[in-house]
Amino acid sequence: MAQLIFPDHFTWGAATSSYQIEGAPAADGKGESIWDRFTHTPGNIWNEENGDLACNHYHYYPDDVRLMADLGLQSYRFSISWPRIFPEGGGKPNQKGMDFYRRLVDRLEQHGVKAAVTLYHWDLPQALQDNGGWANRDTALYFEHYAAFVFENLDLPVDLWITLNEPWVSAFLGHALGVHAPGDNDFSKALQVSHHLLLAHGLGVRSFRESGRKNEQVGIALNLAPVHPASDSEADKNQARRADGFMNRWFLDPVFKGTYPRDMVDIFSRSFKMPIIEEEDDAIISAPVDFLGVNNYTRIIVQSGSSEDDFMGSPVNPPDAKYTEMGWEVYPRGIYELLTRLHNDYLPLKIYITENGAAFADEVNDAGEIHDSRRIAYLQAYIREAWNALQEGVPLEGYYAWSLMDNFEWSFGYSKRFGLVYVDFSTLRRIPKNSAFYYRDLISRNGLEV
Ligand code: FCB
Repeated sequence: MAQLIFPDHFTWGAATSSYQIEGAPAADGKGESIWDRFTHTPGNIWNEENGDLACNHYHYYPDDVRLMADLGLQSYRFSISWPRIFPEGGGKPNQKGMDFYRRLVDRLEQHGVKAAVTLYHWDLPQALQDNGGWANRDTALYFEHYAAFVFENLDLPVDLWITLNEPWVSAFLGHALGVHAPGDNDFSKALQVSHHLLLAHGLGVRSFRESGRKNEQVGIALNLAPVHPASDSEADKNQARRADGFMNRWFLDPVFKGTYPRDMVDIFSRSFKMPIIEEEDDAIISAPVDFLGVNNYTRIIVQSGSSEDDFMGSPVNPPDAKYTEMGWEVYPRGIYELLTRLHNDYLPLKIYITENGAAFADEVNDAGEIHDSRRIAYLQAYIREAWNALQEGVPLEGYYAWSLMDNFEWSFGYSKRFGLVYVDFSTLRRIPKNSAFYYRDLISRNGLEV
């Protein structure tokens, strides 16, 4: 057996997000979020489920932190629920909401687990949605205000700050495809939203720099995937380039190059109303970040679509591949392709894999154990490819498994289990799966046995 050892300073963690685990939707003065509203609107979520209880992490966080420590996690990525801090989006802050996150970070510190804090993982205050949400430029300014407040008031050490999680998903699943909150179906609006999200990111970075916080880092987490053409034909290759433009470059280019990709601007502007962009926006959006967060699960294969303006194409699913419960292809080499490409094309100072993992239909056996061997195989294969990328000089600094525990998987409700830890949603009991023990051992060795 060979050992693939990671650099000494490499960080191993696990990730979650507020709406997916916290529950307690109205506790201690929390305001309504767009996900509270969306899940309570019939027809949006599998089995009409919602995050009202979820893992009840809001009340069980001390146990959850102990569990993290038992698993040897070095860092915990979680998100702050904006409407806990500003129930109305702006205006008067709710100290009790802030106190919850102070208690959480304090507890993490006591257990030697570093904090990686996402400021926005999709739960916008409903009050701001009532004002136009992310389609309204003011929302980016409210975000800046909220971010500045957190930088000032979460006065405990935080290792990583992530402004936004997956703005592509907020913009397009939320405003063009209507499957996420707020459930709009308007591509032009989604483009405007994507710009305001990027602006919010840039303003958040600026306010972090102004906050005077020291020895901490700020970045953004993007959902990224390598895009492959279904064949060698020119048409498929062009399709893959356009799909890559839509999925990856639309957010990477503004952040790292200060400009939207020209080819996509041309394509979008032929069919849609383009976002209103103010003069200083590009400079704000491309303010230097300390790291890029990469959320990667799979790859995309596309076949050429109806026209040269088609930026999605038709997805192709190879019949002999393995798939997770989400229907996502298990393609470990993709994370290597992605990391080396990001390093070559964008040169981020550091990269963290801020999410990677797999949903499978886990079952508790008679002995009370969860033998999730497919998840273990998935993690091992992806982490091995991350190690390969390190050998190519990619400045990869850490890895976060999605997710610490089973949770509310957005429109899929509780039907998809991504956790290293199993959650029995009737009793809320947590049971570490075999993958949790596998990950614990990997962390203790700081590497893989292959
Ligand atoms: C990502 C999200 C995360 C989770 C995983 C499976 O898109 O950031 O909240 O839903 O997918």
